[in-house]
Amino acid sequence: MGILLKHAMVFKNGTFERDCVSVSDGLLRFGRADMNPEQLFACDDLYVLPGFADVHVHLREPGFSYKETIKTGTLAAAHGGYTTVCAMPNLNPVPDTLEHLHAQLGIIEKDACIHVLPYGTITVGQRGEALADLAAMAPYVAGFSDDGRGVQSRAVMREAMLLAKSLGKHIVAHCEDNSLLQGGYIHDGEYCAAHGHKGICSESEWGQIARDLELVAETGCSYHVCHISTKESVALIREAKRAGLNVTCETAPHYLLLDDSMLQEDGRFKMNPPIRAMADREALLEGICDGTIDMIATDHAPHAKDEKSRGLFGSLMGVVGLETAFALLYTGLVLGGICQLSDLVRLLHDAPNRRFGLKNDYIPGQPANFTVFDLREQYRIDPDEFLSMGRSTPFAGWRVNGRCKLTVAGGNIAYCDWKQERM
Ligand code: DOR
Repeated sequence: MGILLKHAMVFKNGTFERDCVSVSDGLLRFGRADMNPEQLFACDDLYVLPGFADVHVHLREPGFSYKETIKTGTLAAAHGGYTTVCAMPNLNPVPDTLEHLHAQLGIIEKDACIHVLPYGTITVGQRGEALADLAAMAPYVAGFSDDGRGVQSRAVMREAMLLAKSLGKHIVAHCEDNSLLQGGYIHDGEYCAAHGHKGICSESEWGQIARDLELVAETGCSYHVCHISTKESVALIREAKRAGLNVTCETAPHYLLLDDSMLQEDGRFKMNPPIRAMADREALLEGICDGTIDMIATDHAPHAKDEKSRGLFGSLMGVVGLETAFALLYTGLVLGGICQLSDLVRLLHDAPNRRFGLKNDYIPGQPANFTVFDLREQYRIDPDEFLSMGRSTPFAGWRVNGRCKLTVAGGNIAYCDWKQERM
């Protein structure tokens, strides 16, 4: 298959140049291609960006295909400009043995339209007790995570870190101290108090990060913190990096663009960790700007409609994010004057690729992984346009810039919303 994109604004060496991009035999090329393409796209004023990588998505299969499947989740990812995602293990069966992991790998092989790298769990059944079969799963996974649950026992986390280190793999931690939750389900802040809800304190997140950072210092494990949401978490990770620890972290678009003054009595605003206070949001934005926060992940967490229709108290935690992340970040952070478009490429491509060793190159002569956006197109986010089975997002109705036109993953078209030029 041959694809030719004519006269695009192409991301190269940290900046944008007007150029042509071609894909032939699945390989990426820049410059005027000497080829007769089967598919020709006129790209004046469109931007070609490296395919994004999201290290934190829930694809729900096997086990919860009424919420999302590998097929719909990866189509949604391609629609958002992603060419690689790492899939969280809160599944059924839980990938805690090689046999269970194979059930997931088989579906990925059959149905994924972009590259998917799963996580194995840290503990058997994500129960936080005995360690899962990390050694057997290591060659096939991005790292080990009990995402959805914190590992409560210091001794178990220490043992997991030592084993992960010996296997050359990351521990990817959902940090949450259950002893501090006390039935909370939104941030323990002004909105919570004013509306009679039960709150989740910030320490339930940062307290466990602090514990883990001590263990990282002791074990030398390579450690990545999931979805940080509090100002204290940013400060702790900044300090750990200064001290030379092998630590990275991610946050998600909703923690950067929302604070608890914007909450509504609607399940669309419920996720774990919760949307925090303005001071937390400001600290996260500072962490993005000074490099404390390495990457932005979506924590795409689709649920069925009835699971998200029971208000803040009764709805399940989790919102979708793959199809809105780039446009929200481009509009909020780049057009909002907080960072440059090239910084978004670093946060959504370079940093996750490097840290997780993803096969998501954007290098001439290598399999093509890129996405094409119309950055001028302005529209309102409409969940009915999502390819994901999940529709619950706090950003429904937001006006954004940046429409995905094409995504090529591993040399193949994974998403295309475009009229081709006549040949
Ligand atoms: O909001 C969330 N949803 N946070 C998590 O940690 C898990 C996720 C899910 O699986 O739904």
